Amino acid sequence: MAETTHVDPFPTQTHGDERRRSQPLLHQEGTEVQRFGEVRLLPIALSHEARMLSCQVLNQINADTIILYNLYKKHHWLMRGPTFYQLHLLLDKHANEQLPLIDAMAERVQTLGGVAIADPRHVAEVTSIPRPPDGVEEVPAMISRLLEAHEIIIGKVRDAVTRTADSRDDGTNDLLMSDVLRANELQVWFLAEHLVDVPVVRV
Ligand SMILES: [Fe+2]
Repeated sequence: MAETTHVDPFPTQTHGDERRRSQPLLHQEGTEVQRFGEVRLLPIALSHEARMLSCQVLNQINADTIILYNLYKKHHWLMRGPTFYQLHLLLDKHANEQLPLIDAMAERVQTLGGVAIADPRHVAEVTSIPRPPDGVEEVPAMISRLLEAHEIIIGKVRDAVTRTADSRDDGTNDLLMSDVLRANELQVWFLAEHLVDVPVVRV
């Protein structure tokens, strides 16, 4: 990294202290004020244990969802073959449908007093979705890989729906069941139909 030199833009010889007040205080450093995995107390009538559980499952599902979003973009870009255009568009549509789920889960974590997972390097440490090769796989393998990622997420969502029902976190339960689960199931259907081996026309 290039070394930064700090030059005072308002030397005292030419400007008074009033001008100095408009200078942004750059290069600030501070300590971490809330660690990942800790939850603050917010007055939403939900126990610490329930909020801890929900933050943990939401961050785990969100890490996988962020990876799924990126897998969709990767395969949107790398798609090829006679159905290129249809799949290119479909995969981008699915990616764009995953984005609001990522935002909703992250903001649900914050609503519960937790810390939303965000940095992709952190996400890579937490996800359980296998890393694909950096290169290009055959088209059916790309689609299978996306289906397998969906099933990992759906399995975790089903488990989290049961656990958040038990802990009475209805807001998280509703988000996971109504939005995350149903969106993932629908995307699985649309993807899986591309692995049915039927000819477009009879010969
Ligand atoms: Fe694109």
